[in-house]
Amino acid sequence: MQAKKAVSMAPLCCVVLVLLCVFDSASTTFVADMDYGGVPLWIDRQFGEPSVLSLQGRMDPRWFRANNPQACPLQCDCPIQWPTALYCDHRGLADTPDHLPERTQYLFLQGNNISSLSSSFLANITDLRWLILDHNQLQSDKLEQAALQNQSQLCYLFANNNHLTSVPSALPAGLKQLRLAHNQISSISPGAFQNLHNLTLLLLQGNKLRTITEGDLKGLSSLNLLDLSGNLFSSVPRHLPPSVVQLYLSNNTLSGLDEDSFVGFLNLKYLRLSRCGLKIQGIHPQVFNFSSLVELDLSYNKLSTTPTVPTTLQYLYLEANQIQGFNLTSFCREVGPLSYSRMKVLRLDGNKMTYQQLPPDWVYCLRVLERIFV
Ligand SMILES: *[C@@H]1O[C@H](CO)[C@@H](O)[C@H](O)[C@H]1NC(C)=O
Ligand SMILES: *[C@@H]1O[C@H](CO)[C@@H](O)[C@H](O)[C@H]1NC(C)=O
Ligand SMILES: *[C@@H]1O[C@H](CO)[C@@H](O)[C@H](O)[C@H]1NC(C)=O
Ligand SMILES: *[C@@H]1O[C@H](CO)[C@@H](O)[C@H](O)[C@H]1NC(C)=O
Ligand SMILES: *[C@@H]1O[C@H](CO)[C@@H](O)[C@H](O)[C@H]1NC(C)=O
Ligand SMILES: *[C@@H]1O[C@H](CO)[C@@H](O)[C@H](O)[C@H]1NC(C)=O
Ligand SMILES: *[C@@H]1O[C@H](CO)[C@@H](O)[C@H](O)[C@H]1NC(C)=O
Repeated sequence: MQAKKAVSMAPLCCVVLVLLCVFDSASTTFVADMDYGGVPLWIDRQFGEPSVLSLQGRMDPRWFRANNPQACPLQCDCPIQWPTALYCDHRGLADTPDHLPERTQYLFLQGNNISSLSSSFLANITDLRWLILDHNQLQSDKLEQAALQNQSQLCYLFANNNHLTSVPSALPAGLKQLRLAHNQISSISPGAFQNLHNLTLLLLQGNKLRTITEGDLKGLSSLNLLDLSGNLFSSVPRHLPPSVVQLYLSNNTLSGLDEDSFVGFLNLKYLRLSRCGLKIQGIHPQVFNFSSLVELDLSYNKLSTTPTVPTTLQYLYLEANQIQGFNLTSFCREVGPLSYSRMKVLRLDGNKMTYQQLPPDWVYCLRVLERIFV
């Protein structure tokens, strides 16, 4: 079934690729995504941040204007092959454009100078699905509460790299992704997330959060990925949604990890704790003792020996620490026909140890290892 589908998709992909070759899509790594209203977009997923490419610079906007009979605001391009999209990005706009056409579902406003959203700017639009506001000057006190109120179809709201100081309130309940990375957010408005039961991805990295209080993330019952890297946490925040599968806490100065730091997460598979200043003395030996964990990143810390990890762990990154000795007990409490580590990739490079220092019996424990970096 799956294979058949893949085969029938192939000619379609070719058509799409030919179409996109007209544009100059030179830089970075791109991932094709087919889920965006008929025409695929290329999204740069480096750092988990999309930069949705506009048509500007790739196809002459005047061509669209001359050939597209539909109304189009002067500050925007209206791609003829994607009538529900409006590209108004990288124009130096100080305000959102007026007279947005009713048909608009995908609104690209990234790379402008927009600081405010008035309650009426979407007054004539009822079907908005994406609102992309990355790299603007948005300020929390200039977002009118009602601005997004009636947008029941809105599923992506991106406002990375702005000047927000708090998570906006009154967000529409249908949101699936909320990206607020690299702002100056130090607080979460009370009840900001209480209706967002469909939100699966929340990016808050590069902000100024110090703590999460009990009600802050209440309501996020479907949250899958939570990025809190590069904030001001001094310990693993409590009261995080238990549904989280990917939890990123890198680049916070953490004093340590307690026995119960990750208790309550039943699905946690990917945990990033890189660049947190962690020492082995501060890490409770039981803290990672849960079998859902697949990948653990503890690179760029101050560990002097290997931490105790579950035998079910498959990827462990310990590069750039101060590890001098390899303690097999970290990976296998005992070695037997069925007791061995499921580790596939182990990085130990950039430490104070050499390959010769691995204990002679390590291969009996790390039996299915595919790659080791020492
Ligand atoms: C955006 O605003 C900044 C400062 O507010 C100004 O220096 C810059 O020239 C503006 N950019 C454009 C393209 O208007
Ligand atoms: C909404 O549509 C009405 C009627 O066409 C128009 O007068 C008004 O300016 C529009 N509002 C916005 C914010 O575009
Ligand atoms: C939202 O919809 C309600 C009911 O249709 C209307 O009264 C209100 O003005 C709308 N708000 C905005 C900001 O458009
Ligand atoms: C959440 O998602 C479900 C399933 O896709 C959908 O039925 C529901 O209407 C969504 N909730 C909101 C508030 O949009
Ligand atoms: C870590 O976070 C700080 C701000 O908190 C930022 O300036 C720095 O670039 C981040 N470092 C990395 C490697 O992400
Ligand atoms: C991990 O926790 C289980 C109970 O959930 C316990 O039986 C086991 O001994 C612990 N493993 C280690 C290595 O402490
Ligand atoms: C290895 O770790 C175990 C338990 O974590 C500890 O009892 C033992 O002393 C360690 N051995 C070395 C050589 O560090």
